[in-house]
Amino acid sequence: MRSVGYSLLTWATLTAILNSSSATVRYQPEQVHLSFGEKERSIVITWSTGNKTDSIVKYGGGGQLLQTKTGSCSLFVDGGKKKASQYIHRVTLYYEDPDSLQPETKYYYHVGSELGWSAIYWFLTPPENLNGWAPSIAIYGDMGNINAQSLPRLQAETQAGIYDAIIHVGDFAYNMDDYDGEVGDEFMRQIETIAAYVPYMTTVGNHESAYNFSHYRARFSMPGPYENMMYSFNMGPIHFISFSTEYYYYLRYGFKMLVKQYEWLENDLKEANDPANRTARPWIITLGHRPMYCSNRDDDDCTRIKNRLRYGITPLRLFALEDLFYKYSVDLEIWAHEHSYERMWPLYNYKVYNGSYDQPYTNPKAPVHIVVGSAGCQEKVDSFNPLPSWSGFRSSDYGYSRIKVHNATHLNLQQVSDDLDGQVIDEWWLIKEMPRIKFPLADELFSSQSNSPSPQKVGNIEQNHLRDSFEVEK
Ligand SMILES: *[C@@H]1O[C@H](CO)[C@@H](O)[C@H](O)[C@H]1NC(C)=O
Ligand SMILES: *[C@@H]1O[C@H](CO)[C@@H](O)[C@H](O)[C@H]1NC(C)=O
Ligand SMILES: *[C@@H]1O[C@H](CO)[C@@H](O)[C@H](O)[C@H]1NC(C)=O
Ligand SMILES: *[C@@H]1O[C@H](CO)[C@@H](O)[C@H](O)[C@H]1NC(C)=O
Ligand SMILES: *[C@@H]1O[C@H](CO)[C@@H](O)[C@H](O)[C@H]1NC(C)=O
Ligand SMILES: [Fe+2]
Repeated sequence: MRSVGYSLLTWATLTAILNSSSATVRYQPEQVHLSFGEKERSIVITWSTGNKTDSIVKYGGGGQLLQTKTGSCSLFVDGGKKKASQYIHRVTLYYEDPDSLQPETKYYYHVGSELGWSAIYWFLTPPENLNGWAPSIAIYGDMGNINAQSLPRLQAETQAGIYDAIIHVGDFAYNMDDYDGEVGDEFMRQIETIAAYVPYMTTVGNHESAYNFSHYRARFSMPGPYENMMYSFNMGPIHFISFSTEYYYYLRYGFKMLVKQYEWLENDLKEANDPANRTARPWIITLGHRPMYCSNRDDDDCTRIKNRLRYGITPLRLFALEDLFYKYSVDLEIWAHEHSYERMWPLYNYKVYNGSYDQPYTNPKAPVHIVVGSAGCQEKVDSFNPLPSWSGFRSSDYGYSRIKVHNATHLNLQQVSDDLDGQVIDEWWLIKEMPRIKFPLADELFSSQSNSPSPQKVGNIEQNHLRDSFEVEK
């Protein structure tokens, strides 16, 4: 009799196990990454779980996780057939909170809930005096899940502590929405090895266009109200501005955000040029995915004089960015999309404005453009047309750039070749002896008119631009 009771129990247990195993639970946190938050010094920690859980970060200096901060999560549903879902958790650590972050401290942390914790990661906080901070940043575009050639080197360098942040200038995973979002999940796991240690700041690219950029908007946590599409942030003496070049090409998603962005850009640039701000943060660097200039052999828009970003949308030249960035003395414009590295001479309207012939980048008389889209993806690298007079150096090696801002007058840039085992193949200094350089044509060009288009002009032009991006996707 005893044995019958025993086997009945076993049967009941077995049935229960069989029933429940028809759907797995996914409480385990994954895809952990950091970003700078709304307030200077604040750090946002973002991660995903398949099933809904609490959103908790346990952290502390000195290796003990004695502090706790909770946040919230939101449901993200992929637009594909499977409607794959995940919860995206966000917790923000503020410097201002009592007992929160201290300057220049190494914090250890893990994320999760009572249902499961991640591994332990760490990050370093900036020093007390932000204006005297000399941060070091790795920057690249166009990194995929397949053939992410630069990633192992970036993993080694980031975990060795040589970077204060990483900036990814568009085109992630190739593509985050593929296979019902599995490619995005795998890519986010891949970059966890760098993005969980330093803020991973992002710019949107054309590969994020699916479902109106929903994966890009949902997965990252950049500051500002525009779901990562446009925002600015400060790092020591640098004011970074990240924006969407894709609004110029995916006009089928509507003109509204393009109009909004142009307004936002002008306001942000104005504010950054307020004398107190420009003195505290003399460097203004823009981040946009598709370039205004490039000399690649592929007939992309950046090879054309009437490039939409540079020249504006024809025929009225709406939202032209070259004049806007020139007017507000942007120092450096960083682009990607072309799978190569290219450094231009100081440039405005296809004319070179060297500081001097021997030292083109000392007190340059126009912004400097670089293209850094060769981190590595399944589309390989791009080749070049003959060297134009406005281009200084080019390479189709896989790799990424490093920026180190030394102070208000000296910015150091390096291009690392992964093909050549990490060798620096281009190194140069951007130097300005006066923190605020007004470019020579600024006054005469912009004294009178405002470039902001009227709503009526926009309405007319919208009719002519319902077709999509016309170039080969890359
Ligand atoms: C966990 O999520 C899956 C779908 O992602 C769902 O089918 C399952 O019911 C969830 N389980 C619990 C316990 O919430
Ligand atoms: C795409 O998203 C933007 C907000 O980022 C919204 O204004 C626009 O209407 C959307 N377009 C479509 C076609 O859904
Ligand atoms: C300008 O300075 C103010 C006051 O420090 C600051 O709140 C603001 O974010 C700055 N704006 C820009 C665009 O740097
Ligand atoms: C700008 O400087 C570079 C480097 O010296 C030089 O090769 C180039 O010809 C210069 N361009 C002009 C227009 O002076
Ligand atoms: C700025 O940095 C450069 C390069 O490290 C250095 O040569 C220069 O002396 C520094 N300037 C000041 C004012 O510290
Ligand atoms: Fe691209």
